[in-house]
Amino acid sequence: MEVVILEGAEQVGRVGADAVAQHVARDPRAVLGLATGSSPLHVYRELGARVARDELSLAGCRAFLLDEYVGLPADHPETYRNVIHRDLVEHVDLDPAAVRGPDGCAADLPGECASYEQAIADAGGVDVQLLGIGATGHIAFNEPGSSLASRTRVKTLTRRTRLDNARFFGGDVDAVPTHCLTQGVATILDARHLVLVALGAAKAEAVHQMVEGPVSALWPASALQLHPHVTVLLDDAAASRLQLADYYRETWSAKPDWQDL
Ligand code: GLP
Repeated sequence: MEVVILEGAEQVGRVGADAVAQHVARDPRAVLGLATGSSPLHVYRELGARVARDELSLAGCRAFLLDEYVGLPADHPETYRNVIHRDLVEHVDLDPAAVRGPDGCAADLPGECASYEQAIADAGGVDVQLLGIGATGHIAFNEPGSSLASRTRVKTLTRRTRLDNARFFGGDVDAVPTHCLTQGVATILDARHLVLVALGAAKAEAVHQMVEGPVSALWPASALQLHPHVTVLLDDAAASRLQLADYYRETWSAKPDWQDL
């Protein structure tokens, strides 16, 4: 894991956008993995700015979402499909038809999960996957206790996650769906490069467990330790419980210009 501790969210946005741009420069048809939530918003803002300045084009890319709520109607503003359109797709030149997420209203949910896995495989797999992390250490909606070998499936959301996400549903936890479809931990680990963003002190313990704790289903993000190419982008507050923070800072400041993320 390359752990990068930056001063604030703006810098995290720039380095995250650099990571995406690096893949698109290598392959304009790169397959992007997109995350919803507040963590990647600065990355999306920076990608939008670069596309507006004609420094970057995502027009040839395809994209896959990590997860989706079960049962929200297609026109509900909080479906992750609608959220990612508002947060990213409308501000870049991605073809909206090339952005796919699992369908949380499918009649056959297990069948939808299997065909979503197949669609990612048919696209050649994800080149660069953006990730946030929940305060409980979840990635996508792989809640604590998730199998580290899991694939896309139906999951029950924890009370904690539903409380955390109630802010998007007028503060009403009962309006937050109880179930979701989510890429599994093993699905996520299949992506060629993982770029995880965590901001703020509320994520500090989860970040410590992910980077420095034992690999454990109790902290599903700790499975990222098993991946050969992970970039973890943190602000000072999210990095505040890392035992090796000084070493990560030295490594980043000594990184040669020619070395990719
Ligand atoms: C949600 C999403 C995750 C996200 C996490 C953290 O439950 N399913 O993909 O990483 O919560 O969200 P945020 O970035 O808003 O803190």
